[in-house]
Amino acid sequence: MPKKILIIDDEKAIRWSLGEAFKNEGYEIEDAENGKKGIKLFKKDPADLVLLDLKLPDTDGISVLKKLKAEEESVPVIMMTAYGEVETAVEALKGGAYDFLLKPFQLEKIKVAVKNALETSRMREELKDIKQKDRDTYNFKNFIGKSAVMQEIFKKLKKIGHSKATTILITGESGTGKELVARAIHESGESGTRPFLEINCAALPETLLESELFGHERGAFTDARYRKKGLFELAEGGTIFLDEIGEMGITLQSRLLRVIENKTFRRVGGVKDLKVNTRIVAATNRDLKRAIKEGTFRNDLYYRLQVIPIALPTLKERKEDIKPIANHFISIFNKEFKKKVKPIGREVRSIFEDYSWPGNVRELKNMIERSILLEADEELLPEHLPPELKMEGEHGEIAAEPDSLDTLFPISLKEVEKIMICRTLKETNGNKSKAARILGISRQTLREKTKLYQLES
Ligand SMILES: Nc1ncnc2c1ncn2[C@@H]1O[C@H](COP(=O)(O)OP(=O)(O)OP(=O)(O)O)[C@@H](O)[C@H]1O
Ligand SMILES: [Mg+2]
Repeated sequence: MPKKILIIDDEKAIRWSLGEAFKNEGYEIEDAENGKKGIKLFKKDPADLVLLDLKLPDTDGISVLKKLKAEEESVPVIMMTAYGEVETAVEALKGGAYDFLLKPFQLEKIKVAVKNALETSRMREELKDIKQKDRDTYNFKNFIGKSAVMQEIFKKLKKIGHSKATTILITGESGTGKELVARAIHESGESGTRPFLEINCAALPETLLESELFGHERGAFTDARYRKKGLFELAEGGTIFLDEIGEMGITLQSRLLRVIENKTFRRVGGVKDLKVNTRIVAATNRDLKRAIKEGTFRNDLYYRLQVIPIALPTLKERKEDIKPIANHFISIFNKEFKKKVKPIGREVRSIFEDYSWPGNVRELKNMIERSILLEADEELLPEHLPPELKMEGEHGEIAAEPDSLDTLFPISLKEVEKIMICRTLKETNGNKSKAARILGISRQTLREKTKLYQLES
């Protein structure tokens, strides 16, 4: 559909020449010789863009602008002004005009201005859509939890979201929903329209992480050819999510602590103090108290972060949630794969509830995704489930019975491998180096295998 432009100007010659020019470009044109008629036309069927003269016979352009904006906030309005009216033009910009052009004008300039304005408004609409989608995924609607613990956590999240609380620490095993919590906090407060920026502290070496967080001045180090803003600046008014904070180096921990205490920071190589106006949400699946004892995590930083702690229980510890979460994922993947699998029945439910879910909600999600994509059509049945689920149900929890592998017979080598990796990780409290040593494989291999068997991310 062609975009419609409304031209409001009392000079017939201008209406005509602009009208002709834009018709040639493929736009649909409406015009009005005064404000009243212009507003009437706009109310009847809003144009995509308005070219508005600042001086009109019946009323001034600014009040027409206000009425148009009251009708349709997002419509781009380009003001046309004669020389000497620049003051008023500035006022027009403040009143929400997209741009203004000085008369007499060059047609080319107007065309460019119109194109830019339409492009900008299209982009804004798209962004609005994306934000809306973001919200849909992360509001409490999609964060499922019937259990008393989760209900408590939801209550807490609502309160935190609307408070000024600036540092929050989320702990929980892998796949328990730490990131979901961080986003829920962000979305439920005023910060929801501001950026949510996340960074994984385990993924970058310390110096890089530092400049990612705080930015750097030009020349701060060899590669710093430009000044760069850090996440603390970019997330202004929003949230920084520091994932795997337990992996942050001790020097950077001190720096972060100072930032939290003073509410200011400096870019790397900078001398100016910049204000911090960002919520810091940190997450870890490590036992920070132990890390403190081992000397790898700063006690004082822990207490700063810990002001508002949120501890996510494992899935095994909240069995009531398993059924609603499973059904939630079934409906999600039904949509995605265009299937009509029913909610889970009694048998599958009891298998699920007997299983230990070392990968927590993520494991449940992956399992349902795979079963719906590859196995189930109308209903998810026990035979659609991977063998390790049923084995635990029949033989008790594997980790509790170290010598019971033979009772699992018949079993494939792959299954044995998965079980052994899972057990070793449990035994070493998730310490991958240790587990790899015990299993006699490299950390890299272990990482690949845990991924393959969906024992974690
Ligand atoms: N209560 C829940 N309801 C619905 N979906 C959930 C719930 N908890 C977790 N999920 C989903 O499970 C997956 C894993 O959650 P998330 O990424 O938040 O875990 P995590 O704790 O950050 O894990 P890791 O420590 O491995 O990074 C995500 O797809 C998330 O949307
Ligand atoms: Mg995570």
